[in-house]
Amino acid sequence: MKKIISVVSLTLIGFTSYSMAADADKGEKIFTANCTGCHAKGMNHIAEGKSLSQEDLKINNRHSSAAIVDLITNGKSPMPAFGKSGAISTSDIENVAAYVLKKADAGW
Ligand code: HEC
Repeated sequence: MKKIISVVSLTLIGFTSYSMAADADKGEKIFTANCTGCHAKGMNHIAEGKSLSQEDLKINNRHSSAAIVDLITNGKSPMPAFGKSGAISTSDIENVAAYVLKKADAGW
């Protein structure tokens, strides 16, 4: 009985952390499909000074998962509102935000 309980609780813990942790590896595919047109290699081909470098993200108050998720969800013209339009799911928005932060901190 004890064994069963610990298996069940381990499974629950596994599910919880899975649904909470953003997956940067999955985010890479989302990035390649949706973002490289304007942000290839972490650049910003449209708005200079708004690249995805760690430095620019910090200057522009975007160096956090919450701030990037908000931007991808609601857009900021000419950047599309991927969340509002339903183009990218909520969990994939979290994944691609994790990817952007990871690459920014690694220097792309
Ligand atoms: C049509 C071009 C375009 C596409 C596609 C696009 N963006 Fe952007 N992105 C922009 C522009 C323009 C800005 C600057 C917005 C502003 O004025 O703050 C920006 C800003 C950002 C920033 C903040 C950068 C900073 O230093 O302030 C992040 C992070 C970002 N984009 C991530 C993404 C991600 C992730 C995707 C794909 C899901 C994406 N963008 C797709 C054009 C685009």
